[in-house]
Amino acid sequence: MSQLAGKKILLGISGSIAAYKAAFLTRLLIKNDAEVQVLMTPSAASFISPLTLSTLSKKPVYSDVSGAEGWNNHVELGLWADAYIVAPATANTLSKMASGQSDNMLTAAYLSARCPVFFAPAMDLDMWKHPANRRNLEWLESYGDHFFNVGYGELASGLVGEGRMAEPEDIVAQLDAFFTKGADLRGKRILITAGPTYEPIDPVRFIGNRSSGKMGVALAEAAARRGAEVDLVLGPSALQARHNNIRLERVETAREMYQAATNLFEHCDVAILAAAVADYRPSNPAVEKIKKKREEMSIDLVKNPDIAATLGKSKKEGQLLVGFALETQNEMENARGKLERKNLDMIVLNSLRDKGAAFNHDTNRVRILHRFNNKTDDFELKSKADVAEDILDTLLRDYLT
Ligand code: CTP
Repeated sequence: MSQLAGKKILLGISGSIAAYKAAFLTRLLIKNDAEVQVLMTPSAASFISPLTLSTLSKKPVYSDVSGAEGWNNHVELGLWADAYIVAPATANTLSKMASGQSDNMLTAAYLSARCPVFFAPAMDLDMWKHPANRRNLEWLESYGDHFFNVGYGELASGLVGEGRMAEPEDIVAQLDAFFTKGADLRGKRILITAGPTYEPIDPVRFIGNRSSGKMGVALAEAAARRGAEVDLVLGPSALQARHNNIRLERVETAREMYQAATNLFEHCDVAILAAAVADYRPSNPAVEKIKKKREEMSIDLVKNPDIAATLGKSKKEGQLLVGFALETQNEMENARGKLERKNLDMIVLNSLRDKGAAFNHDTNRVRILHRFNNKTDDFELKSKADVAEDILDTLLRDYLT
């Protein structure tokens, strides 16, 4: 049964094109047997009819603190709710909430709410990136509020970028996870590296690899769902990580990934290194685009820093280090060699010889090698999401209890 059954949800809708998604969200929440009270800013009514929402939620919709119907009790509603979701949350409404304004029912109820508050921002990409907006998000986060990650894609302005409101299905899934009791990784902080790295040859070309980042993102999402605080350092990848517990840092090169990972490691209980880091980079990337003049050309490469080995050296008592090995031959021997050399506790081995495994597949077949007992766990071919659960289960079973 859904964890949302019987939960009292305040749903605040502010004035954005994405307000239509709030109708789907209301319907999904009701389908999950939640009780939904909709609050709308006056401008939201220009985008979606209050009648639609009152019909879907089976309750009157409130907009102003006082009006023809008298005084609406925002204090009572704020105390009634088990969760307050503001979706879509416009830059304007986020700004008001960050600074404590209460000029309508939605903002007034926010100040009265004692329950967890979630925002699903929706805005144009430049508004999303603007320092004023970033500051508001930081303030709201500092009050303990949560955010549903914005999506990437075409925006109402016609521009393409970040700023799309999270999908109602994702919001409901994350709320459900939030209310799920017994999150077995709660209190743990996990660093995950994922995706490829791109090493510039000149301003338009790079050396990279075929990693999609799917395995690492699946791990980040699974760990976050199970209550861990996740720092995800993601190389160039089209993937989004959807969970409030995931702090995403996007990087491009191995050196940037190294910098981000070594900065974050100190405060982590576990680091899982799922990235396919380029071993070498061009030693002197050209400042201008290289022109096609010569019949032959070569590129000098230098070795990149090894993130896993560096973390292995600085690892403290109680910290766990998990690596990945993708091998094409002498799999076990090579994987065990990496386990020892990089001072890892566990290594997840995938072989390119397994059909449906590793790069760019949605499935993976792994073997887990342990340092402490020289043992190996073998798993079937599964979805990367299920492989992620297996890896986390193994960590919990053998190391974290
Ligand atoms: N790794 C890393 N930093 C690097 C290279 C690798 O953190 N510069 C990590 C990977 O994320 C993985 C593990 O080390 O968890 C093993 O990566 P792999 O590329 O298989 O190992 P290499 O040491 O690069 O060995 P080789 O490429 O020679 O097989």
